[in-house]
Amino acid sequence: MTVSRKTREAMQRGSWIRRMFEEGIVLKQQYGEDNVFDLTLGNPVVEPPTAFKEELKKWADAPVPGMHRYMPNAGYPETRAAVAQALSEETGLALSAEHMLMTVGAAGGLNVVLKTILNPGDEVIVWAPYFVEYLFYIDNQGGFSSIAETDDSFLPTPSALEEALSPRTRAVIINSPNNPTGVLYPSGLLAEMGKLLTKQEAKFGSQIYLVSDEPYRKLIYDGLSYPFIFHYYPRSIVVSSHSKDLAIPGERIGYIAISPQLENGEEVMDGLVFCNRTLGYVNAPALMQHVVTSLQKATVDVADYQRKRDYLHSALTDMGYSVVMPQGAFYMFPKSPVLDEMDFLAELRKQNILAVPGKGFGRSGYIRISYCIEDKTIEGSLPGFREVARHYGLCD
Ligand SMILES: Cc1ncc(COP(=O)(O)O)c(C=O)c1O
Repeated sequence: MTVSRKTREAMQRGSWIRRMFEEGIVLKQQYGEDNVFDLTLGNPVVEPPTAFKEELKKWADAPVPGMHRYMPNAGYPETRAAVAQALSEETGLALSAEHMLMTVGAAGGLNVVLKTILNPGDEVIVWAPYFVEYLFYIDNQGGFSSIAETDDSFLPTPSALEEALSPRTRAVIINSPNNPTGVLYPSGLLAEMGKLLTKQEAKFGSQIYLVSDEPYRKLIYDGLSYPFIFHYYPRSIVVSSHSKDLAIPGERIGYIAISPQLENGEEVMDGLVFCNRTLGYVNAPALMQHVVTSLQKATVDVADYQRKRDYLHSALTDMGYSVVMPQGAFYMFPKSPVLDEMDFLAELRKQNILAVPGKGFGRSGYIRISYCIEDKTIEGSLPGFREVARHYGLCD
């Protein structure tokens, strides 16, 4: 056996997006690039903002001696201070560099957090539908995933949380705006979750961390403002990145912020820094830390994503599909018109449309569509969606 049994099984479980991607390559070879409508990947086609390119050029044209060396494992003090300053303005809370750690994307940040807080066998609650990598990150760091179900609008409920919490629960991961559904968790819900966690901590005599994975935080629509977990629960940790808001996922730059109210925050930070080092990340990429320091207020064109969302959502619902309106990120999660979404996906594939089955996110009966793609791909997919809607009797 060339790879371990565990890795082989994990590869099979976690490969839906990759499988659809590979199908896309075959379809494109057969029918040509322009005749295949690939809505599977969360890899934004938009370019980073001009400010990013200018900053990158500035550092290339006027390098500072030592700028490519190792630095403290938490990252450059000035970068941490800049991110903390931006977060302080966003939250109205006093965050400083001491609350921040620069990471290798949100993915690296999540692994660092889990490594820091989990004892072997601890449970981590994950809300379905979920970003499937959570299950692997939790396993990487010796924990067990405990899956809780969201309601029909893809929001966690206090009763489902209460049922899922146990004396072995060490953490709850939330993700808002959400991949794969695009929903934004409202402040009232976060307040209820915070209260319940405090109550259950007292009941179990345990400490439960709320880990908020928010790489899409700045991609929210309709003038909504982002409810910050730090206002609702002191034992909370934010993990984020610039993969989506600056459209630079390949550059691997993100951060962890601990709540300023976190008990023993200094010890937690020491643990995070240690784990960032010993997981082998060592530090976040130096050049990217320099570059994002002055870009904390820059984002891609959020209005453009909102326009794509409006266009696709109204087209699909007009055809009779049932789709919860996303309030952020760049995904939507339509309900399959038939019980088994694999049948729905097979019909879509006949129209050269590719999407990801809900079962890849722990919720069968749905599919995930990404709209961080070219307008022409969205437009080109609509006749096929209409044909499939007719096939299922959703429209004439
Ligand atoms: C919900 C969620 N969390 C984390 C990540 C990882 O992001 P990063 O590229 O910053 O590691 C992604 C990437 O798609 C995501 O969708």
